[in-house]
Amino acid sequence: MAAAGSAVGLGNIWKFPYEVGQNGGAAFLLIYILCVVLLGMPVMLSEFLIGRRARANVAGAFRKLSGGNRWVLMGLLGVVCAFFILSFYFVVAGWGIEYIYQAACNNFAGKTTDGLARFFADFSSSSFRPLLWDVVFILLTLYVVVAGVEKGIERYSKILMPFLLLILILLCVRSVTMDNASAGLAFLFKPDFSKITPTVILSALGQAFFSLSLGLGCMITYGSYIRSDNNLMRTVAQVSVLDTIVAVLSGVAIFPAVFALGIDPAQGPQLVFVTLPSVFTQMPGGYIFAILFFVLLSIAALTSTISILEIMVAFVSEEFHCSRKNAAIVTSLVIVISSALCSLSLGADTRLTLFGRTLFDWCDFLVSKILMPVGGFFIAIFVGWFCSKKDVRDELSHGAVVSEWFVNAFLFLMRFVVPIAILLIFLNELGVFDLLS
Ligand code: PHE
Repeated sequence: MAAAGSAVGLGNIWKFPYEVGQNGGAAFLLIYILCVVLLGMPVMLSEFLIGRRARANVAGAFRKLSGGNRWVLMGLLGVVCAFFILSFYFVVAGWGIEYIYQAACNNFAGKTTDGLARFFADFSSSSFRPLLWDVVFILLTLYVVVAGVEKGIERYSKILMPFLLLILILLCVRSVTMDNASAGLAFLFKPDFSKITPTVILSALGQAFFSLSLGLGCMITYGSYIRSDNNLMRTVAQVSVLDTIVAVLSGVAIFPAVFALGIDPAQGPQLVFVTLPSVFTQMPGGYIFAILFFVLLSIAALTSTISILEIMVAFVSEEFHCSRKNAAIVTSLVIVISSALCSLSLGADTRLTLFGRTLFDWCDFLVSKILMPVGGFFIAIFVGWFCSKKDVRDELSHGAVVSEWFVNAFLFLMRFVVPIAILLIFLNELGVFDLLS
């Protein structure tokens, strides 16, 4: 449940639709699913396996299993990645809180789609309110991590997440029954292969890793808490399938409406915040559904921020020998600053850009296009080449019957297929050669 809570979050409902919109629709979805199945699921299995075998935090796990300090750098990579994710993730989570408030005040009612777009643009480029909610969300996460009430949150989210699914399904029904909805469904499900470019492939890979919480050791940490008789393959399948279902449902809820309302699908991070409120204004009970939706979205985001902050807190408290509480406070303070800068970088008067990209975009870019795929690459190399075969076999066969053939196939995947595929996708993006021709 904790792993599913980490995986399902803004990545599915906010990031996935706008990545689909910017990267050509169905062609992106197809490559995304291939990346989830061929690269994401094996890497998740590897992370669980490393974590459960070592029963330690990210850095400790690599130290323990490799018997040296060289791989501890991977722990550091994870912490750096967690820092960049939180810097922009908290900003978006904060937008979610503003939208709970706006929904509760019934402020979407009577607004046209253009009006809602203008509202979002004004809000996200202002200084005070986004910052306020950003800090509120950080404090909320800090509280959960320091008070050690993650278990309670997870129990709640187990009950609440089915409601999120239900609301998503109702949104899908409303969206696909709008005029011209079929254009949106075709955009999402009818691939135009000419849309596939190196950037689309790298984006799909990055999005798969982002959505499944891979490449920074999050699932290593959670793996260390998994019971020893749990069947890891089954857990991987459950988490991945659930995560993909939520992402696809968000797509079905959004794209038919995008086409029905004449919204530009490629407009980026604001896509969901403009489209869904428009859909709410056009459905019976929309007032209640809008509030519920943004509350549940915030809870889904919270179970993800907890898992990311946890990586940093575990690392700082163990490597610098301080209490978890102090580690959590110090890391949160640093993130308050970095995420405030990210938020302000979108501002009209405070636009902070570097080589034409805002700080917000830089963090997103670094995480999805570089750090997570690189993390996945090294995790594959580690399991394929540096873990003992006995460790791998033991972990795969706890609570499951696996043949030697399966173990060998898995190791082959981690030794060759996953690292080479990730490398090719990178070289392809850099233009070193052309995969597609
Ligand atoms: N997977 C989460 C989401 O989709 C984000 C996340 C990334 C969480 C990395 C943990 C680690 O929102």
